[in-house]
Amino acid sequence: MPMTGPVLTRRIPTFPYGDPKKRRTYWYDDYVKSGGYESLRRALEQEPAHIVDMVKDSSLRGRGGAGFPCGLKWTFLPKDYEGQRYLAVNADESEPGTFKDRLILDYDPHMLLEGIAISCYACKLQTAYIYIRGEYHHQAHILEKAIAEAYDKGIFGGKGLLSGASSFKVDCYLHRGAGAYICGEETGLLESLEGKRGWPRIKPPFPAVKGLFGKPTIINNVETLCCVPFIVEHGVSWFKSLGCESTIKGPPSFGTKLMGVSGHVNRPGVYECDLGIPLSKLVEEYCGGMRNGKKFKSAIAGGISMGVLATDQYDAEMDFDIGRKYEVLGLGTACPTIFDEDTDMVMVARNITRFFKNESCGQCTPCREGSGWMYKLMCRIEAGEAKMKDLDLLLELAGSMGAMPGTTICGLADGNNWAVRTIVNKFRGEFEARVKPSFVPVTVGVG
Ligand SMILES: Cc1cc2nc3c(=O)[nH]c(=O)nc-3n(C[C@H](O)[C@H](O)[C@H](O)COP(=O)(O)O)c2cc1C
Ligand code: SF4
Repeated sequence: MPMTGPVLTRRIPTFPYGDPKKRRTYWYDDYVKSGGYESLRRALEQEPAHIVDMVKDSSLRGRGGAGFPCGLKWTFLPKDYEGQRYLAVNADESEPGTFKDRLILDYDPHMLLEGIAISCYACKLQTAYIYIRGEYHHQAHILEKAIAEAYDKGIFGGKGLLSGASSFKVDCYLHRGAGAYICGEETGLLESLEGKRGWPRIKPPFPAVKGLFGKPTIINNVETLCCVPFIVEHGVSWFKSLGCESTIKGPPSFGTKLMGVSGHVNRPGVYECDLGIPLSKLVEEYCGGMRNGKKFKSAIAGGISMGVLATDQYDAEMDFDIGRKYEVLGLGTACPTIFDEDTDMVMVARNITRFFKNESCGQCTPCREGSGWMYKLMCRIEAGEAKMKDLDLLLELAGSMGAMPGTTICGLADGNNWAVRTIVNKFRGEFEARVKPSFVPVTVGVG
């Protein structure tokens, strides 16, 4: 598979393509000088439906975690609906270990705004809300300035897109969250945008039919929307020449992907790679290898909800097949956290259960009660105070919670389930070594 140069990060020096010390924010003038908003101009010369077809044909899959085909999602909007429709841009980025959208927001905010403008035109969405996580103060300020510039230059606002190049008008607003993981879940995000507690909604109805304020709404991740101008600029075949086909008769993984690597590597950071790059190559070639020359032990596949790879899965291909091929939930955000040979996997599991216990919104009993119970069990196991049956109870609890087993409203509980199950199953020896041996009754012989 050929490795490509930067696509999304062409203006953001990232190793090995440029000196990260030379990074700076590309404001409107810089952006236009480097070809920015040309894709919007080109898109406006075409029928909206043609742009939707292009995105559909490109097989672009969502970069926010679930990998849902973007163009297909766009076609779920009601066809003849003339009223208000919304775009909700998911910039919540609260999955632990994930920091790839931040790179875009820090350095190339107009790339996102161009993606928003094209997507709104294609799907006839009059208003876009960018929902940004509470902790991203700096990025919120950058976006505020970039949005003001875009209004000033006629990208958004009263005259119609691109100073009246299209009569279709789009407004774009920034909305700051308060720092809750659950507000990254798309319907929790909508509730929060409406000014309510971020409680995920029961689906169906799906947001494309009944979303923000009850109106048809498309929700897309920052990175997903940033792929759209490039598909318009270079075409569908170009996009399909990047990344890889599925090797297990699944949907393809085309395009490049921002991979944020953290943990025990020499050079943690965000790298833009073709989908399908082996994890070992990402670590050894891009991240300068394992820290202190230690051996690879495990990695969180792509955000902690995805679970972990085993030691012998170091060569796992980072594409959307990873879930089915390597017994993890999926590629997630493609931001792996790497663990070396000295990592205590029991501690990792305890830490993860603590996170999910704190972040459960509390609506569903299996998630609310189960996450707290799992955390208590993990504390007992880590302290060496648990019995073997507690390990089985932990696995039973984990396996029974989630939208996939059909017991909860949203996927937060699936994340907790998969994280714990994959760690216990792939590193069971470490857990068994920590639990007390079971009580074995001694039979005293009589007679
Ligand atoms: C608990 C939970 C947290 C999530 N957090 C985020 C997030 O921070 N950012 C994001 O883009 N998607 C997040 N998602 C996925 C969104 O629900 C949704 O699938 C995504 O924003 C759709 O955009 P995409 O199709 O472009 O990926 C989360 C999902 C769950 C279940
Ligand atoms: S699964 Fe958990 S986080 Fe999701 S809605 Fe239910 S209680 Fe809330």
